[in-house]
Amino acid sequence: MKTAIYITVCFVVLLFGLTVIYAGNVLDQGMRSPLQIVKTRKFIMHLFAENLQDMNKKMEGKQIKNSKVNAGNISVTAAMLPPLYRGVHKQVYTSIKDAHYFFKGQPGPAMKIQAEKLSTAADLFRKGLQTGDTTQVKKYMNNIQSSCKECHGIYRGKL
Ligand code: HEC
Repeated sequence: MKTAIYITVCFVVLLFGLTVIYAGNVLDQGMRSPLQIVKTRKFIMHLFAENLQDMNKKMEGKQIKNSKVNAGNISVTAAMLPPLYRGVHKQVYTSIKDAHYFFKGQPGPAMKIQAEKLSTAADLFRKGLQTGDTTQVKKYMNNIQSSCKECHGIYRGKL
């Protein structure tokens, strides 16, 4: 029974990984509409925020161990950011309802580095959960939050 569960989990993880690689390629080559690109960026940012909120709730309720999936979501989705942040596309922000922030643009590959920092922080958190050391896990959680803030400090502008 345990083996069956293990195989199913591995399969789901593999499928998820392949989907992300596929999505990355589609984003890279196929997504040409600036409005679509900007909407997708915002969708991902809200996904991050919801996962983080959920993690904080679990932390308060001493359910932090159940945050593994949230951290996995953040880590894998962060890998999709660099192709979405190639252009600034400021002109389309006015046609998005409730848009408060925009992308200021970037020098060279630095955005990729910020996205990788977030991915790494989420992976560390996931590994930290296995140790059961709550103090350390809280530190990893702070790392995730500071990598959000660090990137916002450099690239996010207020409309
Ligand atoms: C690699 C850089 C980067 C990282 C890392 C990052 N963000 Fe963002 N975020 C941005 C930029 C740039 C914007 C501006 C919106 C846009 O691009 O259209 C933004 C916008 C947002 C917004 C506002 C969305 C809106 O509707 O305007 C939220 C909420 C948000 N981020 C949450 C998060 C959270 C939570 C994390 C961490 C788990 C995170 N972000 C990590 C770059 C980043």
